[in-house]
Amino acid sequence: MILVADLETVATLVLEEADIQSRIAEMGDALTRDFYQRDPVFVVMLSGSVPFAADLLRCVKTTCEIDFMGLNRFGESGRVGVTLDTSTPLFDRHVVIVEDIVDTGLTLKVLRTMMLDRGAQSVSTVALLDKHRRRMADVPIEYRGFEVGDEFLVGYGLDWKGKFRNLRSLWAVLDLDLLEQQAGVMGRAVAG
Ligand code: IMP
Repeated sequence: MILVADLETVATLVLEEADIQSRIAEMGDALTRDFYQRDPVFVVMLSGSVPFAADLLRCVKTTCEIDFMGLNRFGESGRVGVTLDTSTPLFDRHVVIVEDIVDTGLTLKVLRTMMLDRGAQSVSTVALLDKHRRRMADVPIEYRGFEVGDEFLVGYGLDWKGKFRNLRSLWAVLDLDLLEQQAGVMGRAVAG
């Protein structure tokens, strides 16, 4: 609670835990309906999508597999580096990419191409958040939780310099400079 009280000085609440969870339950129902007995592979993008994937995939009521992938994107060139690759063979499988947020869409575009190049039978994306106003690449998002504005967001997997992924709710940072000044205080609050 100390953490949230501190965060309120530099950020504003965007989505409460209950709203996130009820939307995730709906998304889980949609995935269950569409992939029932089709044995999909969910490819979870590290690290921000981990809390979302953990909650979402427990709402998916059909047999599935879960794998992970880490990517670094270099600017707007479309070039990416793979920091961790999947180990599940994806040939002929129904692949569902699990993303915390789609911003420019450049990462997702590369990822979709990679999955198709590996011979996936189908590739679709489930994203909790869509910053659609900032889109640069035209990519489909088949399952979308919420449309959000272009503010910088933290919490529920989203980070600022690696921090705040562990918050249960989602916050928009009002002042990144002030956050920088106060980050040490909040870090101690988390640790304590
Ligand atoms: P894209 O290639 O621009 O779509 O990048 C998507 C990635 O950018 C996400 O997976 C996040 O890691 C990161 N990202 C985009 N917006 C935010 C934000 O508001 N807060 C934290 N990370 C973000």
